[in-house]
Amino acid sequence: MDHFQFREGVMHAEDVSLEVLAADVGTPFYCYSSATIERHFTVFRDAVAGLGSGDPLVAFAVKSNPNLAVLATVARLGAGADVVSSGELARALAAGIPASRIVFSGVGKTRAELAAGIAAGILQFNVESEAEIDMLAQVAANQNAIVEIAIRINPAVDPKTNAKISTGGADAKFGIPWERLPAAFAQAAAHPNLRPVGLAAHIGSQLTDLGPVEDTIRKLGELARALEAAGHVIKRIDVGGGLGVPYNRDLPPPPSPGDYATMVARATAGWPWRLMFEPGRMIVGNAGVLVSEVILTKEGASRHFIVVDAAMNDLLRPSLYNAWHDILAVRHKATRTVATVVGPICETGDTFATDREMEDVGSGDLVAFMTAGAYGATMASTYNSRPLVPEVMVKGAQWAIVSQRNTPEAMLALDAKAPWL
Ligand code: LLP
Repeated sequence: MDHFQFREGVMHAEDVSLEVLAADVGTPFYCYSSATIERHFTVFRDAVAGLGSGDPLVAFAVKSNPNLAVLATVARLGAGADVVSSGELARALAAGIPASRIVFSGVGKTRAELAAGIAAGILQFNVESEAEIDMLAQVAANQNAIVEIAIRINPAVDPKTNAKISTGGADAKFGIPWERLPAAFAQAAAHPNLRPVGLAAHIGSQLTDLGPVEDTIRKLGELARALEAAGHVIKRIDVGGGLGVPYNRDLPPPPSPGDYATMVARATAGWPWRLMFEPGRMIVGNAGVLVSEVILTKEGASRHFIVVDAAMNDLLRPSLYNAWHDILAVRHKATRTVATVVGPICETGDTFATDREMEDVGSGDLVAFMTAGAYGATMASTYNSRPLVPEVMVKGAQWAIVSQRNTPEAMLALDAKAPWL
């Protein structure tokens, strides 16, 4: 459920008309609904509340939407953060997420990033290779610190999602092959500056089949028991994120947070360990839209094109993953058409929808790309020297610009002519 609803034919974010916002901030822009973020976070948190040893950590995957206001919104509800870079770590801390609720993931953390996490006093590093175990031990020794780690396993399961966002297959770059976990754990335990206390897994994103997740969680449990039998002390199991969200309102929805929690409860029954979750998309996906204005329409040899002022640099998912985003007219249209929706960028991949049955919008009309709150603004680039677009957050009848529109001048100012030019 989200809070983007039509009132008298015009789409609103909570109590704010998207037409009013467009007139004020210009297009394109991202718009987030705080009520939707709060609702999704609360639903997820409550669904998993009693699982494991109790008090699970819900660490919001910052990569899905690192906007400071978004992070501050979940921080107020008790969220932790799953970060994968120094930049994300800084944002999580700036948003008020305590270091004691931050987990640092990622297959290639640099020494500087490891040092930054240690200096901040984060809860744990999710370590992804034998080489990283040694590197982290060395950095921790330099800082005279003892750090708690979980080892991310590669469970070798097929998560049945888009290949580009599948991370659990045996040949993926992520985690340590699960067969090598006992040796890796012993390797970590031998370092005086490391305390291996947990296991982690994350098999992919936009998951619509809970079976592979359940298999993975059961595998984590078996491995944890075996490690305990070998004398290790296990405190936490991080089951990652990945729950899918509905992108196409004409298709059956993916499993709900309730379905997910029921599965986790089944797979973790009797577990004495604290559970950790890293949801991203599920919290913010349907809490954001990208609003764009139709520049013009044109007729190709056989296609009706709608050219909008947003492009693949603003919302990359359709181009990169062939992802579907519903495209709705911000002001309802009585007539429908079949159109190919494209941006102004000079490549054919700059296509949001092909031969799609949709409302018959024309020059000057506004459209909303739905479910753009996750992996939207955060994946934007400045290709074609297009400035990053603003992000707006709405709360009831209030709204605020929570990320400014960049300008061509500011972008140009980062460049310099080489001295010989
Ligand atoms: N934890 C780890 C270690 C991850 O790598 C990810 C996402 C998450 C948690 C959060 O997953 P979520 O709950 O959001 O599915 N750009 C792609 C998605 C890439 C996901 C990368 N990792 C997209 O637009 O679909």
